[in-house]
Amino acid sequence: MIVVDQVTKQFKDKKQVVKAIDYLSLTVKKGHVVGLIGENGAGKTTLLRMLCTLIEPDEGNITLDGENIFENKEKVRSRLGVLFGSETGLYNRLTARENLEYFGTLYGMSSHDIKNQIEMLAKRFGMRKYLDRKVEGFSKGMRQKVAIARTLIHNPDIVLFDEPTTGLDITSSNIFREFIYQYKSEGKTIVFSTHIMDEIAQLCEDVIMMHKGQIVYEGSLEDLYAQENNRDLNYLFTSKVVRGDLYV
Ligand SMILES: Nc1ncnc2c1ncn2[C@@H]1O[C@H](COP(=O)(O)OP(=O)(O)O)[C@@H](O)[C@H]1O
Ligand SMILES: [Mg+2]
Repeated sequence: MIVVDQVTKQFKDKKQVVKAIDYLSLTVKKGHVVGLIGENGAGKTTLLRMLCTLIEPDEGNITLDGENIFENKEKVRSRLGVLFGSETGLYNRLTARENLEYFGTLYGMSSHDIKNQIEMLAKRFGMRKYLDRKVEGFSKGMRQKVAIARTLIHNPDIVLFDEPTTGLDITSSNIFREFIYQYKSEGKTIVFSTHIMDEIAQLCEDVIMMHKGQIVYEGSLEDLYAQENNRDLNYLFTSKVVRGDLYV
């Protein structure tokens, strides 16, 4: 379980101070798929960057299973798979397999484990045919599959994705959705941000709605639908943000 407790994060942008995260608290339950939504600038990326220990909060705490994530970053990172938007982090000159091997090595995996894991991921994502081709000629969908496989090479139990389907075509988005279904069935925890309400409605049991660095709603989708007596997530999000229905 991830617990974010009263976290703030400010950035100094020229002379202005931007409150990216404003006393934000939330819980991500083990084995849940959590969708993160909010307008541009709401603080989604900043939150995800903190969850994966890339940046530290100014105030507040973040714990993973009761331990402060910044006290043992290496341990936390070994449990996390992270993918930020379209930054696939792949090396064009290497083949898909070589890319996966490289990232496996970074995680200190044995060559035996890397081999097995690549085999499993290639099968899962239908990548066998192009595993030994250089990434530079790959379509966006092929790249995205390799990028997702890369985030999973060390078999993390928590995966964080920042806008994984933004800019992808339907086929590639579907690949991502399929992956979520599969990973969820293995009891993994997944947090991803998106602009697409349908992705949340279809894939998530929990939703985090953010607005100006604060939480607008955090919790079960079904509870939200029941509270508002409405199942239209687009409407619910807009009305919460417009009504300023914030609880902090
Ligand atoms: N490195 C940074 N330097 C200055 N301002 C930043 C930085 N990162 C984020 N911000 C600001 O923090 C706010 C939240 O940004 P971000 O987390 O990227 O939002 P989102 O991902 O929801 O679009 C925005 O106002 C953004 O301009
Ligand atoms: Mg963002």
